[in-house]
Amino acid sequence: MPTLDTLGRPVRDLRISVTDRCNFRCRYCMPREVFDQEWVYLRHTELLTFEEITRITRLAVELGVEKVRLTGGEPLLRKDVHLLIGMLSGVDGMTDLAMTTNASVLARRAEALRDAGLQRITVSLDSIDDEVFRAMNDVDFPVERVLEGIDVAASLGLGPVKVNAVVQRGVNDHTIEDLAGHFRGTGHTVRYIEYMDVGMSNGWKLDDVVSAAEIVERINDRWPLEAVPPSYPGEVATRFRYLDGEGEIGVIGSVTQPFCGNCTRLRLSAEGQLYTCLFAGTGTDLKGPIRTGASDDDLRGILEGVWTKRSDRYSERRSEHTPGWERVEMSYIGG
Ligand code: GTP
Ligand code: 5AD
Ligand code: SF4
Ligand code: SF4
Repeated sequence: MPTLDTLGRPVRDLRISVTDRCNFRCRYCMPREVFDQEWVYLRHTELLTFEEITRITRLAVELGVEKVRLTGGEPLLRKDVHLLIGMLSGVDGMTDLAMTTNASVLARRAEALRDAGLQRITVSLDSIDDEVFRAMNDVDFPVERVLEGIDVAASLGLGPVKVNAVVQRGVNDHTIEDLAGHFRGTGHTVRYIEYMDVGMSNGWKLDDVVSAAEIVERINDRWPLEAVPPSYPGEVATRFRYLDGEGEIGVIGSVTQPFCGNCTRLRLSAEGQLYTCLFAGTGTDLKGPIRTGASDDDLRGILEGVWTKRSDRYSERRSEHTPGWERVEMSYIGG
């Protein structure tokens, strides 16, 4: 029997943040005025160990989790993260092990990740225009090195790669078509993400959002598209393929087309807090119980309790929320 929440949704995915640090300062995620010298990151001793993460994953798989994704911050900043991948690969019952990365150091790490058992990779790249991208990551990081990371990963069998681009009006929306054009015919899939009001620091305004419908319309004007059914139930991205056979794109319409009805995602923060929604204010601690000797049964009870009590559907109820609603940062919860 799958474990269901109060709205009948099973738990299928576990998204694990392995660090709250990142070497980029994307303005929509970790704006440098907020994430400055004074910002307090988790200390190493506060992070779950690889053994603790693997133990939680094994128990989550027993409850129904099939897909595991490592995120951050930037997951490749966590020392020796390939060792964690090796340990997670040994968990029976998991069908998918993936990572979302900014690819800044992917070219030199991809082989160790692949050898450890990573199955696929998603790369964040918001624009193919070098100037726009450097301004968005706010550390002057060039597009070329991200592309190199994608190529190396794909050549090692970690592809085809999904390329995630957050679209902000007036920032990178004029480069939507160029990004699609670059990846058309490569086998990689660009997925455009509507800019979301996650966290408290990005100053999100509805006017900054470019809707999934507008994105599709613009690409369709250039290269005609047709809708493709989801590749699995509850897929976050809506898929479209080029009529000329040159591949596909996806759009993630979390703001204008919320998908909470299918939300099967459980999130584990780097310090061991469980969250059931990207927009949650508080989590449930697992690290405390683990470090004071909780048994597998105790931990199973906590996991099951968190999921079965869950009623989140933030994106579907966005307009009902008060502006001051406290939400954890995306760099902490992992996207
Ligand atoms: P695949 O298994 O490859 O389909 O991955 P995915 O689309 O589930 O994961 P990915 O990390 O690539 O998700 C892409 C983006 O969609 C995330 O970075 C978020 O911006 C957004 N997203 C993913 N899950 C959720 C969710 O549960 N709620 C909301 N609102 N947005 C989400
Ligand atoms: N809105 C939408 N997506 C976001 N991401 C980070 N912050 C936001 C936001 N405010 C995306 C990143 C990355 C993933 C982890 O989450 O671009 O692809
Ligand atoms: Fe780092 Fe990704 Fe956030 Fe950009 S979006 S600051 S790369 S975690
Ligand atoms: Fe799931 Fe919350 Fe996202 Fe809705 S807003 S899809 S409940 S994580």
